[in-house]
Amino acid sequence: MTRNFAHRGYSGKYPENTTLAFRKAVEAGADGIELDVQLTRDGEPVIIHDELVDRTTDGTGRVKDFTLAELQALDASYIYTGQYGRNPIPTLREYCEFVKDLPIVTNIEMKTGVYEYLGMEEKVWAMIQEYHLEEKVIISSFNHFTILRMREIAPKLKYGFLSETWIVGAGRYCHEHGVPCYHPMFRNLTHEVVAELKKYGLEINTYTVNTEEDVRDLAAKGIDTVIGNFPELTRDVLASIQG
Ligand code: G3P
Ligand code: MG
Repeated sequence: MTRNFAHRGYSGKYPENTTLAFRKAVEAGADGIELDVQLTRDGEPVIIHDELVDRTTDGTGRVKDFTLAELQALDASYIYTGQYGRNPIPTLREYCEFVKDLPIVTNIEMKTGVYEYLGMEEKVWAMIQEYHLEEKVIISSFNHFTILRMREIAPKLKYGFLSETWIVGAGRYCHEHGVPCYHPMFRNLTHEVVAELKKYGLEINTYTVNTEEDVRDLAAKGIDTVIGNFPELTRDVLASIQG
């Protein structure tokens, strides 16, 4: 069975990485939600994709240079020109409150590719424990050092290495680091790559899958999770295949 994760929430239709997009993903029948975490200047984990607030909010500057209060004064849905009212950048804590009693898996992507946000691992782990989400999270990152660091402090969580490039021997690489999930860009999942990953027993969670054709292809290849911007579309395609 292939699972349906909503990428940045239901971001194909609603402002990405907002509580609205997360709520709509759940309503759309997603099995899980992928979101991106960074730290504010005063050390609060917040949910936003870019290192700059410019693309998704009415502000300008780096996430890491804003205090939480300053950041929460911004509108993360301004691109939609008032269509959905005002939607602030959520904190990870607000998200945990929202998801704690829902049967939803959360893929927390640690956005440490540009700024390392040292110490974010401890903060995210503390929140996972506080909200008892240990069995319901997958921690991923393009920065594989972040994954290894976080595993030191939280060895029982599930981890995945993210990749957007064509890696030879990715299954072996993950296996050698004891990382059970691989999160590649979906176009890189040729039959040869999938076979190598399966040989090492990897869980394959791939992004960003937005068309019926691609959902079908990946489900046929036995991919564990497709992460996409249109969870309703994914739900319907998977239902037509899997029943
Ligand atoms: O975690 C999957 C995907 O979100 C990785 O790429 O840039 O959308 O965060 P990006
Ligand atoms: Mg992401």
